[in-house]
Amino acid sequence: MVSTTEQVTKAVVPAAGLGTRFLPATKATPKEMLPVVDTPAIQFVVEEAVAAGLDDVLFITGRNKRNLEDHFDRAYELEQTLAAKGDLERLALVEEATKLARIHYVRQGEPLGLGHAVLMAEQHVAHEPFAVLLGDDLIDARDAVLPAMLDVRARYGGSVVCLMEVPRERIGLYGCAAVSATDVDDVVRVHDLVEKPDPAEAPSTFAVIGRYVLDPSVFEVLAATPPGRGGEIQLTDALRTLAAEPDRPGGGVHGVIFRGRRYDTGDKLSYLQAVVRLAVERDDLGPELREWLRELVAADFTWSPEVNDAAATPGSA
Ligand code: G1P
Repeated sequence: MVSTTEQVTKAVVPAAGLGTRFLPATKATPKEMLPVVDTPAIQFVVEEAVAAGLDDVLFITGRNKRNLEDHFDRAYELEQTLAAKGDLERLALVEEATKLARIHYVRQGEPLGLGHAVLMAEQHVAHEPFAVLLGDDLIDARDAVLPAMLDVRARYGGSVVCLMEVPRERIGLYGCAAVSATDVDDVVRVHDLVEKPDPAEAPSTFAVIGRYVLDPSVFEVLAATPPGRGGEIQLTDALRTLAAEPDRPGGGVHGVIFRGRRYDTGDKLSYLQAVVRLAVERDDLGPELREWLRELVAADFTWSPEVNDAAATPGSA
């Protein structure tokens, strides 16, 4: 057992993707900036990192990510206008993203895969363990998993992945881990990892979801990892090497099994589901939205003037 007292402070957030699943919305807007109700998805990810004590955030970006950079920067004109109007509530919303974290950027240049994106962080992260958060996965703040992953890193050293059980027919959408139990509930040792396996051949139904705590030795492994699935340099493949060599410095991979609320914003259907699920829980929107959804379902989704106007006449049903 390795017991380290190191503090993990750096989070790496890959955000260089082209967002082709959301075209045309993502023609000029980064997919990370698509709103989940009224907040860009990426802001939730940064908030999650900061809540876990990781207030140094490195975005791996590419072309067309100006809006993302602007979102985390000051917006003087807007701030001054809101201040002059005395609209302090909205002013606070505008300033929030700016004050969250120390944000840094590096460009990926060529989209050669998630593993390649993480490799871009090497100079910034240097020799420290760090977290990677993928923007398509939103973890509900009430079910935060990064703190548990950081504890596992402190206890065992090496790298830590976040695992979620999925139906076998869906495992081919994820990295998949072969695991064995440890003496701690919901903490497993990872023996093998396969990127997006054929469900019939998958070694388990444990899917890797987009939270990682990585040992810096991953950089050396990534640099030597050949392109894998889809011709891309896969983070999963580098972790597979580290899992297979637990005795090398920084080697070994553990998994934390996540059983909480996760929202996927990676494709259109799950994005819509995430927006609805989060909106119905909001105090300002939830009651009316629930009512409207009930009416919509009761009407079997056919249009009627009542459903059309339900939002304007809350509680009218
Ligand atoms: C990436 C990883 C995959 C992981 C997934 C989690 O895939 O390569 O191992 O399971 O994120 O969201 P992507 O969804 O980017 O294709």
